[in-house]
Amino acid sequence: MKPLDALVQARLVQGPVPAAEVMALGLYHPEHGYYREPEGPWGFEGKDYYTALDLGPLLGQTLALRLEAAWERLDRPPRFTALEPGAGRGWLGRDVLNAVSGPFAEALVYVHRDDNPAARRAAEEALAPFLASDRARFAAESESLEPFAGAVFSNELFDALPAQPWRWEGERWTREVLTSAGPQWEAADPGEAGAWFASQTDGLEPRDGSIWCEILPEVVHALVAPLEAGLFLTVDYGESADRLLAKGADLRRFKAHSVDGKWHEDLGAADLTADVDFTRLAGLLEAEGLRDLGHLELSKWIRTHAPLDQWGAEWMALPTPVRMKRTENLLQLTLPGMMGSRFRVLEGWKGKAV
Ligand SMILES: C[S@@+](CC[C@H](N)C(=O)[O-])C[C@H]1O[C@@H](n2cnc3c(N)ncnc32)[C@H](O)[C@@H]1O
Repeated sequence: MKPLDALVQARLVQGPVPAAEVMALGLYHPEHGYYREPEGPWGFEGKDYYTALDLGPLLGQTLALRLEAAWERLDRPPRFTALEPGAGRGWLGRDVLNAVSGPFAEALVYVHRDDNPAARRAAEEALAPFLASDRARFAAESESLEPFAGAVFSNELFDALPAQPWRWEGERWTREVLTSAGPQWEAADPGEAGAWFASQTDGLEPRDGSIWCEILPEVVHALVAPLEAGLFLTVDYGESADRLLAKGADLRRFKAHSVDGKWHEDLGAADLTADVDFTRLAGLLEAEGLRDLGHLELSKWIRTHAPLDQWGAEWMALPTPVRMKRTENLLQLTLPGMMGSRFRVLEGWKGKAV
């Protein structure tokens, strides 16, 4: 029996285990969690899942433009720190650093923050030239950062936080748990989660349900606390709270390029994710002092901020295979059936007004 299965079996003797606890164990158990195993392969290499970064540099190139606009809005400070929590292999940072030039490139320092050891090794390789020239550095999740002006950005961080599915059964709330007979829904008091869900709809219908991430407030606080002034930006999949409720909740398992609902299987050897409640995330950011908050589909964000005409003209000069890859990358990020409408980008601003 695998170590995490044995741990869960032992825990099940005491009674059902909430799905969020199983997810926390599967991803973050200090030795055997999917994001804590010292050795890969995981993610794309392990054929479990891919993120926008596996598809090409366009997300990073667009992000680089948003970061430069934030630098301008801050009146071009000599140091612009861009912190990336959940940075994984460091590919987004690498793509940003490759895309910038001139005085902004001189001001930009990229900080990779993610205690995932296998991803960190990949990041050391991806960021090597930037680490050597002090344009990038690593920060442990426990490191307390000096206040800085700049940005906090992330890709698929919030969907990787342990989350609990809840469902409204008409008269009572139930939560998904693991029992020795498999996953089940059991009646429980949703507390703060129930009040939040009820506040986000005109009336609950049977089978409405959503996801509740208990640690979201503390994670949000830790991320934005050191940001004195600048941009907060996150890319993730999810919806506004009312749409999530209407859609119903689930946890997903990514394994070998397929996705299913078997969140309790292959613990430690499969990725687990949950939709992000963008309404709640925006509310928590507002409570932390951020403003101008808004989120939109990735496709719209790309079309709003990427200089597509200019890129199109530049791509004409590229060798055909590279040009085709760029086009494919753009389609993946913008087509509704691909990442375009499943992913959203949330932006907010902290500190100095324009
Ligand atoms: C789904 S992966 C995304 C990795 C990368 N951003 C990408 O797009 O390929 C989520 C990552 O978030 C990291 N993570 C989870 N909670 C975190 C936190 N509080 N601070 C920093 N990283 C965190 C995990 O270790 C994992 O590597």
